[in-house]
Amino acid sequence: MSNKNHNGFASSLGFVLASAGSAVGLGNIWGFPYKTGANGGAAFVLVYILMALLLGIVGMTVEMYVGRRAQANPVTALKKIHPKLGFIGLVAVVVPFFIICYYSVLGGYTLRGVIASFGDIGKDAAAVGEGLGAFMASPFIPALCTFIFLGLAVVIIMGGVQKGIEKASKVLMPLLFIILLGVMIYCLCLGEGVREGLNFYILKADFKALGWDGVAAAMGQVFFSMSLGMGIMISYGSYTGKEINLFKSAVQISIIDTIIALMAGLAIFPAAFHYMEVEGLAAADVGLGGFALMFKTLPLVFNSLGTVGGIIGAFFFLMVAIAAITSVVSLVEVVTQFVIQKFKISRKMAAIVPMTLAMVISVFVSLSLGGHFSLFNFDLLTFFDEITNTVLMPVCALAVCVAAGYGIKKQEMAENIVPSAPIVGTIVSYMARFVTPLLILVVAVFGVVSNVSQNVDYYSVIVGAVLLSAIAATVYFACRLDRTNTGCNADELASVADED
Ligand code: PFF
Repeated sequence: MSNKNHNGFASSLGFVLASAGSAVGLGNIWGFPYKTGANGGAAFVLVYILMALLLGIVGMTVEMYVGRRAQANPVTALKKIHPKLGFIGLVAVVVPFFIICYYSVLGGYTLRGVIASFGDIGKDAAAVGEGLGAFMASPFIPALCTFIFLGLAVVIIMGGVQKGIEKASKVLMPLLFIILLGVMIYCLCLGEGVREGLNFYILKADFKALGWDGVAAAMGQVFFSMSLGMGIMISYGSYTGKEINLFKSAVQISIIDTIIALMAGLAIFPAAFHYMEVEGLAAADVGLGGFALMFKTLPLVFNSLGTVGGIIGAFFFLMVAIAAITSVVSLVEVVTQFVIQKFKISRKMAAIVPMTLAMVISVFVSLSLGGHFSLFNFDLLTFFDEITNTVLMPVCALAVCVAAGYGIKKQEMAENIVPSAPIVGTIVSYMARFVTPLLILVVAVFGVVSNVSQNVDYYSVIVGAVLLSAIAATVYFACRLDRTNTGCNADELASVADED
């Protein structure tokens, strides 16, 4: 399916791979496995898949459609639903900017991981640990790695949608899959400890360990992993024409996203447990979650496996770096597209100027990760991660879903989402109106209650209150939108200025 005349993705495959490139990132290879291990294994996976079906695929289709009908950035796209909704689009441009500031720092760490894995071959565990310690203690080198990582993303973006994003995704995504497959097979064949690793990861279905906060975590993970609520799919959707089946693409992207997340855990935990078994270590001795798992434990694990293990480790980090870069590319594109259309400047300038600012903020994030700087007792990484993951993304995804569900006519969705099967658009419209918002609401309320009752502290209460108020405000606006607006027609759509 070629789309040569369209100033966007040249093919359906290119669009799916670029969007999958955005979706597949650190969230899959690092976040999903450790959250699964910590939240009841197969029980978490089951809820995750259910959430991906009910929230993820609908949310993704809706976001892509909102972008495609406007052929413009998220701010303009939301204004084209209702002139007063531009602020939701603005949030969907600002949030990616903040994510870039911490995600690029982690991206820099993955680049370091590739080089260090080779350098660490033949060294003992103490020397490997010291190497990472020295890297983190340096104020400059992590910032330099961040700079190189973000710089690579900017270079891809400067190439444009077809020659930059699409071309890079077509090479990088298959490469990522092949490397992950190889690493996974290697790890599953390690023998000792593999079974225990699989037991810890997935061969249990512990619904008690899952609990409501596990369900809320699964929901947050779906949004983060599928890159929803951040303008990405609106922006990428705006580069598609009618010949691309958005629903089918959303299904394909979520399948790729989930399979890669599952595969990552099948590599990480067998290897980690093999290491623990051989070294006689307990789970408490090694980090099996968060930052420690990816950047402290895994280098030790691969290093302990000799020269071949070291090389496999280097490929593992290369694969993580690829996953991270295609995700950051999508975040940078949202900001760049907005700046191009708003300020009418060249793509090059629109990529370089905001990303220079993001780089400056990332330096602080990087300093805080190395323990040189902190804000309200949080390291900045956790701060950005928490605020975007727990509050901004679910609220923004909900807002876009509700805006589209109530602001765009059902008929329009039926005719355009899959023209050959209007029922798909009709179902998506109903889901966006009723099912998805209700589910987000229920999960958020129970998640907040469970979190607050377990960690009785000001922080949980404040985050919970902010989240619930934002959701309440969204629902209120939805009800008003429903009464005042039945969706722009094609003429009204055209009359909204493209640049604002
Ligand atoms: N989906 C990416 C991941 O799972 O790591 C992260 C991400 C990319 C989040 C782009 C948000 C985003 F807009």
